[in-house]
Amino acid sequence: MFSGKKVLLIITGGIAAYKMPQLIRLFIKQGAQVKVIVTQNATNFVTVKTLATVSQSVVYDDEYLSENIAELTHLDLPLWADFIVVAPATANTLAKIATGMADSLATTAVLASDKPVYIFPAMNDVMYGQHATQRNLYQLAESGYKIFSPEVGPLAEGYAAKGRLPEPETIIELVFQAFYRYSHPQVLQNKKFVVTAGGTEESIDPVRYISNRSSGKMGTDLANAASLLGADVILVTTRPAMMVMSEVKVETVKTTAQMQAAVAVHFDETDVVIMAAAPADFRVANPATQKIKKVAGQDDLNLQLIKNPDILAGLGKQKKHQFLTGFAAETENLHANALKKLTAKNADLIIANQVGRSTGGFNADENSGTMFFKDGTTIEIPLMSKQEMALRIIQEINERL
Ligand SMILES: Cc1cc2nc3c(=O)[nH]c(=O)nc-3n(C[C@H](O)[C@H](O)[C@H](O)COP(=O)(O)O)c2cc1C
Repeated sequence: MFSGKKVLLIITGGIAAYKMPQLIRLFIKQGAQVKVIVTQNATNFVTVKTLATVSQSVVYDDEYLSENIAELTHLDLPLWADFIVVAPATANTLAKIATGMADSLATTAVLASDKPVYIFPAMNDVMYGQHATQRNLYQLAESGYKIFSPEVGPLAEGYAAKGRLPEPETIIELVFQAFYRYSHPQVLQNKKFVVTAGGTEESIDPVRYISNRSSGKMGTDLANAASLLGADVILVTTRPAMMVMSEVKVETVKTTAQMQAAVAVHFDETDVVIMAAAPADFRVANPATQKIKKVAGQDDLNLQLIKNPDILAGLGKQKKHQFLTGFAAETENLHANALKKLTAKNADLIIANQVGRSTGGFNADENSGTMFFKDGTTIEIPLMSKQEMALRIIQEINERL
């Protein structure tokens, strides 16, 4: 995620500073080098020793700067960094940055930087809602700083409201997305994508359904990846709870018929459709309107299933300019089945992946596969995270648009 990247983390004096050692660990785990600046007040909430240990580096503060002026100037750290993260950002520090103050190493580093600065305000809800704070946030956004809204959740005051710092796992994901957009040309700008995700659910009765093991992760990662490269993305999903970027429009569906209808609405103005969902091939002919009860003496129950529409094949028949991508999740004869699907469905790309093994496929964080393009090209994708695989797939599609 951040291999070889240099992160300057500025921690200010908010209660959520205690979460920062965990954020530093996550950055390092993702391949980044981290240097930390603390304000004097931040050290009331997190110790310099802890931060130095987890960041494997000196922690920089005003005292360090004045004692080591021969080796370090106020400009060295912002020059070194690829980007700056200010988390948690207090109301006080927001006000200082907004007005261009540089009265500490922390605020000077921000003012002296021409790199992206990602700011995560966190404070009491009343402080956050104050006109002064909101005006400062508006000013910061206008000046080109990227502000991430605090979450609604339990505050240190003992009640839930808006002002909470997102968890480190969320912060790292948000920073990754923002930095990826900044550092990659937005080659898919003005392109419209529809991506489907997750296994569909077909009702047996009001409380039971037939589905499959597709988690929706691959489709969600593909939607996010297209968005990271600038596309307008609609994600039609049965699993809306996954981490979806705020720029992606989410439409939640349950059944195969609903998924088909949702895709059809957007199809004419869509450039790329990626069917990463696993729609149920069959549905129950007559779902019960009340919960089916066990009946004494009855040892079996027959469900009659009828065929669902084949969404990809239907789109293949209608397609004009659209680039159609399907997945072939197979347990055997992977390549032969994928090639058959490519022609039968009039698709431009089929990505074949093996399911039912211990690595990759449904419900796993990693995946591998082979891309079969209509022009005869095949590309092997070795086992990698679904997120990396998604970016790879989107880049390959972009080259063929
Ligand atoms: C216990 C305690 C918790 C605080 N938590 C926050 C906070 O979460 N967010 C905030 O903006 N200020 C908070 N403050 C106020 C800041 O510490 C104070 O404004 C300080 O001047 C910030 O300095 P700095 O921005 O240089 O780090 C808190 C103060 C105390 C005493």
